[in-house]
Amino acid sequence: MKTIVITGGAGFIGNHVVRLFVNKYPDYRIINVDKLTYAGNLANLKDVEHSPNYEFRRIDICDFDTVYSLMRDEQVSGIVHLAAESHVDRSIKDPFSFAQTNVMGTLSLLQSARMYWESLPEKYDGKNFYHISTDEVYGALILNRPDGDGHGNGPYGDDLFTEENKYMPHSPYSASKASSDHFVRAFHDTYGMPTIITNCSNNYGPYQFPEKLIPLFINNIRNRKPLPVYGKGENVRDWLYVEDHARAIDLIFHNGIPGETYNIGGFNEKKNIDVVKTMVKIVDRLLGRAENEDENLITFVTDRAGHDLRYAIDASKLNRHLGWKPQVNFDEGIELTVKWYLDNEEWMNNVTSGDYQRYYESMYGKR
Ligand code: NAD
Ligand code: DAU
Repeated sequence: MKTIVITGGAGFIGNHVVRLFVNKYPDYRIINVDKLTYAGNLANLKDVEHSPNYEFRRIDICDFDTVYSLMRDEQVSGIVHLAAESHVDRSIKDPFSFAQTNVMGTLSLLQSARMYWESLPEKYDGKNFYHISTDEVYGALILNRPDGDGHGNGPYGDDLFTEENKYMPHSPYSASKASSDHFVRAFHDTYGMPTIITNCSNNYGPYQFPEKLIPLFINNIRNRKPLPVYGKGENVRDWLYVEDHARAIDLIFHNGIPGETYNIGGFNEKKNIDVVKTMVKIVDRLLGRAENEDENLITFVTDRAGHDLRYAIDASKLNRHLGWKPQVNFDEGIELTVKWYLDNEEWMNNVTSGDYQRYYESMYGKR
């Protein structure tokens, strides 16, 4: 039985990856390694928590001794590494915790894997260290077609991020992710460790912590609270339904070429203001309110410092090499997402009230 560690499995993307691996690969033992920060919530995994091939370990990836013992004692042969501090606004207020988890935590995992795998007779054979990263490492693209005329490579600009783009991070979050990517690449080039890196665009879907645009705004529309749109709402993001990302991770983990980088994206650029208006429309319809009744909640506020204007991913390498493309288009995905948050009010209240933290503190101690 293969033992695979998935880090950050109690977070937003991680829970979808854990669920897919646990259900699809009964012959794997999946160990979810998560510190349970404010962003980690084991309620996200209720449907798989009793599966015979699933285990949870509350571990801080920065704790090298514990991570190394886990690698050795459980004979781990693959790592899908998602654990991170992930919110840009938090990184502006507290950059240290981003350097700590995203850089030092990744290094601790790399070094643990290296020491354990190099101690084996077969060394790196059959091993895989897969690091999940972000398109934000590439910096920002220009918005050269503000009205989106639909020509060229993307509706809002001629260029897209390819795997050849230079790293030009602007926020402490993206700087820390860029740094972790460099360490992963260095372990491949220096020690021959089989590593893969993917850089993905903005994910959306169920179980996202409501500090991020989409779940925060759906909840605010429901509760008729202001919708704080940064700047003029002109920033463009490339949205990908989270289950499409999980499917890409599965495909790449099993078929990707060691040492390679793959971009993952939705070919789905949207201006923030358009995403917000779409959410207002859907929430109002699903709650039986008058059409666009809640558009007056939109409040333009001071822009995010260093706010990247446009991200857009060229995911054609992944399509050419492994045949991946997104299955869920934005209209479908956003409808599913709004409906999920409206149907799962208890999950949302549990998170926004902080109750989920108190419950897990009583089981596992203070975070
Ligand atoms: P998230 O914030 O929802 O979840 C992060 C998880 O990591 C949480 O469960 C948290 O408890 C855990 N964690 C944090 N610090 C830890 C530590 N020191 N030790 C162990 N566990 C720790 O994040 P997400 O949105 O699911 O993102 C997952 C990964 O994907 C991140 O690496 C992020 O950079 C990357 N990514 C995210 C997006 C996106 O749109 N959300 C897009 C591209 C890439
Ligand atoms: O591009 C991938 C990245 O996407 C991931 O690496 C990050 O982990 C993830 O958080 C996300 O980063 P963003 O900063 O793009 O996501 P966020 O949901 O915070 O913001 C999306 C856009 O909406 C961004 O342009 C900022 C804007 N925004 C966000 C919030 C929270 C607002 O206008 N108002 C808000 O209140």
